[in-house]
Amino acid sequence: MPTVRELRAKAGEKPITMLTAYDSPTAEIVDEADVDVILVGDSVGNTSLGYETTLPVTVDDVARHVGAVSRATEEALIVADMPFLSFGVDEADSLENAGRMIKESGAHAVKLECGSHTVELTETMVQLGIPVMAHLGLTPQHVNRYGGYPRQGTDQEAAERILELAVAHEEAGAFSLVLEHVPANLAAEITETLDIPTIGIGAGPNCDGQVLVVDDAVGLSGWSPSFSKQFGNVREEMESAIEQYVAAVESGEFPAAEHSHEESDLDELY
Ligand code: KIV
Ligand code: NA
Repeated sequence: MPTVRELRAKAGEKPITMLTAYDSPTAEIVDEADVDVILVGDSVGNTSLGYETTLPVTVDDVARHVGAVSRATEEALIVADMPFLSFGVDEADSLENAGRMIKESGAHAVKLECGSHTVELTETMVQLGIPVMAHLGLTPQHVNRYGGYPRQGTDQEAAERILELAVAHEEAGAFSLVLEHVPANLAAEITETLDIPTIGIGAGPNCDGQVLVVDDAVGLSGWSPSFSKQFGNVREEMESAIEQYVAAVESGEFPAAEHSHEESDLDELY
């Protein structure tokens, strides 16, 4: 397993790879592909739970999905995303919620959507043994503040604010930083300034690593942000398989003789 320390060592040598996963089969595939970090994102709300935003996602939801991922993962570092309002409101609750991800579900670290309110919390978590991945730039839990998902750090003042917060979280002990939807030159400058690895999404090529939502990367979502890339078309594969299933059942072609067990001794069944 790449530990948080090894991740730091990899940065600058070779780009870090991170993908989300929410279930066991996907985690197994991602892990076997040698992806360094699996993020059980609160994006599970969008990808798998049918919500329009990540806001309704609960600690129970993420904890359940972290469990599914951790049972299927041998090598990757597993990061649990802390859902909206599960951290930063009350310190004891924040620590309990983060602790659950590690103690009950098998995550190795948590990710926090950051602001000035998470600097001290990061320090406390790290002191207690909960590694923290910080997340700055576009933080989707603030969708109602933004009124959408606009690019962040696009003027001098906003860019400086993000840089300041990045430094503050590094000083507080965060082991890495996700930078979402910020100008590439800002991401490059932050990457240059920090010692800890930066992992970008919609943040250009100059971060120490990249992250994508796995459903977007494999082409399952049917939709993805402009900064994402579909490396496959799993949705088309599934559509085709399911259409074939329906046609085969309706035509009587499935199940065929080889899928049936007519020789069963019924006496043994009851
Ligand atoms: O929830 C998520 O998938 C994320 C990544 C996009 C960084 O936070
Ligand atoms: Na997230």
